[in-house]
Amino acid sequence: MRNTLKSRALALSVALFVIGAGAPLMRMLAAETPAVPRKKPPPENRDESKVPPIVLPDPLVLKSGQRVTDADTWSRKRRGEILESFRTQMFGRRPPGPAKLTYKVFDETRGALGGKATRKQVTVYFSADEQGPRMDLLLYVPANASQAVPAFLGLNFGGNQAINADPGIKISESWQRNRPELGYVRNRATEATRGNASRRWDVDTILARGYALVTAYYGDIDPDYHDGFRNGVHPLFYRAGQTQPAPDEWGTIAAWAWGLSRALDYLERDPAIDAKRVAVLGHSRLGKTALWAGAEDERFAIVISNNSGCGGAKISRRVFGESVHAINYDFPHWFCANFAQYNERVNDLPFDQHMLIALMAPRPVYVASAEKDLHADPRGEFLAALHAEPVYRLFGAPGLGVQEMPPLNEPKMGRIGYHIRTGVHDVTPYDWKCYLDFADLHFGRR
Ligand code: GCU
Repeated sequence: MRNTLKSRALALSVALFVIGAGAPLMRMLAAETPAVPRKKPPPENRDESKVPPIVLPDPLVLKSGQRVTDADTWSRKRRGEILESFRTQMFGRRPPGPAKLTYKVFDETRGALGGKATRKQVTVYFSADEQGPRMDLLLYVPANASQAVPAFLGLNFGGNQAINADPGIKISESWQRNRPELGYVRNRATEATRGNASRRWDVDTILARGYALVTAYYGDIDPDYHDGFRNGVHPLFYRAGQTQPAPDEWGTIAAWAWGLSRALDYLERDPAIDAKRVAVLGHSRLGKTALWAGAEDERFAIVISNNSGCGGAKISRRVFGESVHAINYDFPHWFCANFAQYNERVNDLPFDQHMLIALMAPRPVYVASAEKDLHADPRGEFLAALHAEPVYRLFGAPGLGVQEMPPLNEPKMGRIGYHIRTGVHDVTPYDWKCYLDFADLHFGRR
């Protein structure tokens, strides 16, 4: 598909050049995604003894070769260099947010969840067109809060109604992957989907500990399948005639992360929420998203990656679990087109994922793994957290306090947090307990 597009674009641009028909069109065609040969990746390695040694790029060396030895030089120079590399080579550049935020609060119910919460539902519009892409936010705020509360913000996989059986939650009207056993049919959510993911959203505990929970369906921002970027928010920002993002422009993960920033724009206007204390979190592909959201938007006070794996916290150079090649092959829409250039030369990446973690510095960041989640490479996730430490040290911030992976279910919490728990790829009450403890620690709540 991309191949054909590319050759057509080339032929057309040559023709236009010859007849002198307009530079704007030429620019537009040059921005088409280049062809990346789609070649099946080798099977993934899950044998630690077969992992070759790796050399990680040094976060503390400027492109000029000069060493970064102080926090100021990091913040003024090096952080921007790294962010720019991640933008152009991996996630893609995103547009700015809309100049004016338009939203409608369509539900505000006191005494929700048996009296424990105030439930709010808000539609955030991504453009002036109310029929265009928009996202429904669901907020639960502790009922007894006497002042603005800190919040956890994370996207969900199945629509807001899936996170709790609360009959007051609006059922998502957006595209869904069919999973009839869970109540998703004809690409829509039905009543049967209420609460199907409540196991992953420990709402009662979050509220009891004094935090609000804010969530939105990730598919409101961009449906999670490769349609050549015709649906979702991408087309809102195309230049005249543009039909897909340029090779260095945002893929779907960057779009989801951008949506999280728009959610934060709304939270800044909601007096119930302390928007300076919002922890952004996500699981798996949404864990990759939370990390990128925290890198792009420094308003997020804490960033939490749950089992984010390849493209998230996992070191890309480590030949274990999912590879860059495999992720680009299986999910061609997640990253920008440039990222596929590294499929078979991952050691040429100008960064590795420890540098993504370091982009959060000096803010608290938490990386969590699960013992049986080998596809996500728990050790690779730990190493990224560990090797972000030199940047935190510039700020005098404590790192993990360990050099080796901690034992199962023994969280380590400095300004960087990490745990590996027993069990599989999932979000569990144990994970939530650690995140709440971490937030309490850094928000001075204990
Ligand atoms: C796949 C993918 C992972 C991703 C996961 C998820 O397993 O390979 O990279 O994290 O889906 O989002 O659940």
